Amino acid sequence: MLGRTGLDVSLVSLGTGGPSGFGQSRGATSEEQYALVHGALDMGINFFDTAAGYRKSEELLGQTLKDVPRDKYILASKCSLTTSFQDYSDFLPAERIVEQCEQSLARLGLDVIDVYQLHGVHPDYYQETVERFYPVLDKLRDQGKIRFLGITETFQVDPSHKMLEHAVPGGLWDTIMVKYGILNQTAAHRLLPLCIEHDVGVLNMATVRVALATPEALTNLVADWIEKGFLTPNDLPTDDPLGWLVDDVSPNVVAASYKFGAEPPAISTVLTGTANLEHLRENVEAILGPGLPEEKKQRLAYVLGHIADGGV
Ligand SMILES: NC(=O)c1ccc[n+]([C@@H]2O[C@H](COP(=O)([O-])OP(=O)(O)OC[C@H]3O[C@@H](n4cnc5c(N)ncnc54)[C@H](OP(=O)(O)O)[C@@H]3O)[C@@H](O)[C@H]2O)c1
Repeated sequence: MLGRTGLDVSLVSLGTGGPSGFGQSRGATSEEQYALVHGALDMGINFFDTAAGYRKSEELLGQTLKDVPRDKYILASKCSLTTSFQDYSDFLPAERIVEQCEQSLARLGLDVIDVYQLHGVHPDYYQETVERFYPVLDKLRDQGKIRFLGITETFQVDPSHKMLEHAVPGGLWDTIMVKYGILNQTAAHRLLPLCIEHDVGVLNMATVRVALATPEALTNLVADWIEKGFLTPNDLPTDDPLGWLVDDVSPNVVAASYKFGAEPPAISTVLTGTANLEHLRENVEAILGPGLPEEKKQRLAYVLGHIADGGV
């Protein structure tokens, strides 16, 4: 259940941003995108996430969904708040949100967006963001163009979730989007319990991203964390640092990572940003299959649970 929205979402959902960007990064064809979305629906996935800022994702996703009855899926999108992702203080005028929403609806070919989210809110500008944009969002909701309101963090600058920890108790947001995973466990300390307390739906994004899907990136990250003093050289093997997670229930580190990301009861859905249908099948199997063994979860929490690093 997606918090107080009452929307019944699948535990696995499909994201069209991130490194794969719905296949745009590798030039996927529209037939592949169609097969991905319809394969997802066939597997029981009913939640799709996109954004005005994900290149052509909204339009491409809309095309794949146009022959699907509207009550068979839940659509989340996001508006951009600033002129660029580099300058978090250079806000767009509030009326640009209305324009963006109407453009998103047109690109998606929809009358209503189920969950409309503010994309990547910086902790230093939360108050200003609310004052500037909330009245417009409220109006769009009254007009029936959007149903529920969400807010997403920018994990590169706010790995300890300051913005969301402040936002959730305020009661304005029906959903949040957070990065929670093996390498980003800090949401479990305060944020996820707050979401349960306030009945806020939790979309888990980027739980695998690059470091957990690329062995070389993981080795480099662990070396970096040893250098920064976040880990001691004895905490993890320097070669294949998370290889010990592979066992009968997890065929590889990616599978173990998606399992980990789906585990907390506060998490309504895990967004997987794959553009590969076979990977999507594997991810569904991993998340719906048995969880990680207790002693492995304890080791992950003991060794990595304290680290809040935006460089992942
Ligand atoms: N602030 C925000 O609002 C924000 C930020 C980030 C993400 N998001 C949303 O969250 C969604 C998910 O995040 P994400 O895409 O960054 O991260 P993700 O799902 O953690 O990771 C996606 C990456 O993992 C690879 N991958 C997935 N399954 C795999 C498998 N079974 N085997 C090998 N590689 C695999 C994908 O490549 P392949 O395509 O090759 O499988 C892709 O490069 C995004 O699509 C977006 O909708 C929102």
